[in-house]
Amino acid sequence: MKAAFCTNYGEPEVLKIVLTDKPIPREDEVLIRIHASAVNSADVRVRGLDVEGFMKIVMRFVLGFTKPRKPILGTTFAGVISEIGKNVTKFKKGDEVFGMTGFKFGTHAEYIALKETDVIVNKPKNASFEEASAIIFGGSTAYHFLMKADIEKKSKMKILIYGATGAVGTSAVQIAKYFNSDVTAVCSDEGKELVTSLSADDVIIYSKEDFTKNGKRYDLIFDAIGKLNRKMVKSSLTERGIFSTVGGFEVASETTTQLLFLKDLFDKNKLKAVIDKIYSLDDIIEAHRYVDTKRKKGNVVIKVV
Ligand SMILES: NC(=O)c1ccc[n+]([C@@H]2O[C@H](COP(=O)([O-])OP(=O)(O)OC[C@H]3O[C@@H](n4cnc5c(N)ncnc54)[C@H](OP(=O)(O)O)[C@@H]3O)[C@@H](O)[C@H]2O)c1
Repeated sequence: MKAAFCTNYGEPEVLKIVLTDKPIPREDEVLIRIHASAVNSADVRVRGLDVEGFMKIVMRFVLGFTKPRKPILGTTFAGVISEIGKNVTKFKKGDEVFGMTGFKFGTHAEYIALKETDVIVNKPKNASFEEASAIIFGGSTAYHFLMKADIEKKSKMKILIYGATGAVGTSAVQIAKYFNSDVTAVCSDEGKELVTSLSADDVIIYSKEDFTKNGKRYDLIFDAIGKLNRKMVKSSLTERGIFSTVGGFEVASETTTQLLFLKDLFDKNKLKAVIDKIYSLDDIIEAHRYVDTKRKKGNVVIKVV
């Protein structure tokens, strides 16, 4: 099968398209023919070992000292079950699924073998494979942080989403709107049209207005790109206001519950897949280059089939 191997840490050119053995599913595994994946901020961070100081050493311990121990990057996929192990009961051949692999990576390839108990669910009925692969990373992260802030239990929360046009941000805006929150999106001039199309109630252009100085207060400030800290936003929070960020040490969980939620939202037309660009697997270097700019709007999809 064809796969994109990360042969070193460094610039996108360390990625090479390689022909490698198709995995053989074990008794409790399914083999998935991947139709689409995405290049997420996590992939480019791993490839470039893009973390500060001491964290570089931690990352080398976790991921591999001189190059990633798991050479095929990619953590999200949408595809079709092409084989099942003899003990598999949850899925059958031909099922259309989507899922995430976390630190197992391996989705920038034509096939992947995973346990049936891994984070795999039937994909949204009305989603193309590209759309399904695009809603996973940002959707699951936004769900994790917003649920921790109890968004589900509080009605009409006033929420400010900083970095509203990234993968996490575009999902956060939509999930917050689903829970009837009043959403203020902070983005660039370029992103205004996008966040408005996702039904943000108010838009603040970061180059024109500093939200920490406009006198408005929010019940939740969610920093979806990890550029803020509590001290910076304290004066913009209500008395019991919460500050939440993707930029701390907290790592979002990855669960089937999250995927079932995203599937349900997509099928109810409450969640759009925001796709900026689509590349083929052969063009993985260009895809990484684009995600490296940190300016993508929503998601960058890899069309494998
Ligand atoms: N803790 C966790 O478990 C976890 C999980 C997932 C992701 N993350 C982290 O979350 C961050 C976001 O991930 P992502 O995939 O959503 O990133 P992304 O899609 O690459 O975010 C890019 C977006 O950020 C916007 N942006 C850049 N600078 C901005 C600024 N100063 N103010 C407002 N918006 C700005 C860009 O728009 P403009 O260029 O138009 O401004 C662009 O649309 C990454 O650092 C990632 O590592 C953490």
